[in-house]
Amino acid sequence: MYNHSELKEVIDRALINLSYNTEASRLIDPVKYILSMGGKRLRPVLALMACNLFSDKIDNAILPAAGIEVFHNFTLVHDDIMDQATVRRNSPTVHCKWNVNQAILSGDVMAFISNDCFLQAAANDLAKVLRVFNKAAIEVCVGQQLDMDFEKAPVVTQSEYFRMIEMKTAVLIAASAKIGAIIGGADEKDTDLLYEYGKNLGFAFQIQDDLLDIYGDAKTFGKTTGGDIVANKKTFLFVKASELAKEKQLKQLQNLFSIQETDPGAKINAVRDIYDQLSIRAITETLANDYISRAFSMLDKVGTDPKRKTELVNIANSLIGRDQ
Ligand code: IPE
Ligand code: IPE
Ligand code: MG
Ligand code: MG
Ligand code: MG
Repeated sequence: MYNHSELKEVIDRALINLSYNTEASRLIDPVKYILSMGGKRLRPVLALMACNLFSDKIDNAILPAAGIEVFHNFTLVHDDIMDQATVRRNSPTVHCKWNVNQAILSGDVMAFISNDCFLQAAANDLAKVLRVFNKAAIEVCVGQQLDMDFEKAPVVTQSEYFRMIEMKTAVLIAASAKIGAIIGGADEKDTDLLYEYGKNLGFAFQIQDDLLDIYGDAKTFGKTTGGDIVANKKTFLFVKASELAKEKQLKQLQNLFSIQETDPGAKINAVRDIYDQLSIRAITETLANDYISRAFSMLDKVGTDPKRKTELVNIANSLIGRDQ
């Protein structure tokens, strides 16, 4: 069995060794930049762990897993344009370091580079794996559409919020685990369980990401804190606060999320005050924890020796800081 840091190293090496058409270095420089500036490599590591759960041999999963990471980084490049984010992984975002058009085009090419990685899958797995990946990739776009639509919506319900994060975040994490399981030779029941494990992990992960936007440490988070508030994002914190707020607070909150604030610091502080008054932080942490527990109940049903599941348990705990 491989441990987390060994698998991360395998992925980092595979990403460094990707070969590009170097005719247009201006196109590829941002690709190399975003892929080399760090990142947790959560999705490909999960894919390899899921593969390793069923098979001691993980070689066939390495390039498809790298493909998932390339796709994820493509979504980040475009997401940062859409969210007008200036910092990612403690470095300037691609559209800030270069420009928006460059970020669009270099992002586009990454989508196809990721496809090339998938084409390296074994012939037996190829169609299955590509089908799971393409479905998730289309759903991510749906989720991103909802995320943008909700910026303009004064009210977003919990079920609308959960649908949005299911699509924009959870399905890719679910697909990563499922793809690893398929390549590892799992049967249909177990690949579906791995998908559900990943989906629940994905919900927890996005809820935690929403939380860290306001309560996280900027250096560890690697992104500008308060960005979601400035962009009027309908995060879990906003949705829950809207539900719990009394009349005056609700008016205040809706007002803060409808104006284009000229003083972002003041807007962030005012929203944080309301969240603090309503104990939103604790509620959000509990919910992320619940999703991790649901992920574990899916993993429990997988028909392998429980000892083989240790890494998948540990990575889930680490996502919400249960291991600290
Ligand atoms: C960021 O993903 C986008 C979200 C779904 C919250 P990650 O937090 O996995 O980003 P990196 O790859 O580790 O930088
Ligand atoms: C990202 O959601 C989802 C995708 C990139 C598809 P966020 O917009 O919350 O991610 P961050 O916070 O910028 O990483
Ligand atoms: Mg976004
Ligand atoms: Mg964003
Ligand atoms: Mg975010």
